[in-house]
Amino acid sequence: MRPIRFTLWLKLAAWALCLYPAAALAWRTYSGHLGANPVETLEHGSGSTALRILLATLAMTPLRQLTGRPEPIQLRRTLGLFACVYMCVHFAMYLVFDLELSLPKLGEDLVKRTYITLGFSCWLLLLPLALTSTDGWQRRLKRRWKSLHRLIYPAALLACGHFIWLVKKDETEPMIYLGVLLVLLGWRLPWRRWARGILGAQTTT
Ligand code: HEM
Repeated sequence: MRPIRFTLWLKLAAWALCLYPAAALAWRTYSGHLGANPVETLEHGSGSTALRILLATLAMTPLRQLTGRPEPIQLRRTLGLFACVYMCVHFAMYLVFDLELSLPKLGEDLVKRTYITLGFSCWLLLLPLALTSTDGWQRRLKRRWKSLHRLIYPAALLACGHFIWLVKKDETEPMIYLGVLLVLLGWRLPWRRWARGILGAQTTT
């Protein structure tokens, strides 16, 4: 009974943490506290939240390996879906506020602005992952599901590229996100297997 309750609390905490930025933005919109450029505030708020949750999703596997507990993996899907929802809201804001729903303007931006090309490519890669995140799709796709979901790695690099490309002056914040991402991706390289292989070879010689 205990572990189920613990997982439930963790899930509730994850939902609360993921919903908080949306609630804060909604409150600021309602109370008229979005600053001098409300569209920019909304786009930046949704974009940075999407990126943070995407990185949190990628942190779940290392966390599972470090703690030896199953809960991080149980939270991974929830986090991934929240990241995708924020991305869709972020994209929708840009389509409505910046482009006034003009598809020709979207085409123009995709060709002319590298950061839009990178953000859009990230979104395109992550959309099928969200759509196939259910148990049913996991069963249907079998081993291909794992390969498909590895698209999260290039997608996260594209998201960081999007942020780096769009900042004009201080690149510190996007570089911090890139640093975190590189650590999370580096963790997945087979270091431990190599180390074990080298140590094994040393003990047998
Ligand atoms: C779907 C295609 C996307 C479009 C068209 C798009 C568009 C934009 C625009 C117009 C801005 C504001 C740029 C400015 O300040 O001049 C922005 C900022 C941002 N976007 Fe995107 N974006 C897309 C996808 C994404 C994705 C997938 C992520 C992350 C997973 C993301 C993360 C960010 C971040 C972190 C910022 C900057 C936030 C800040 O300055 O604090 N975007 N995006």
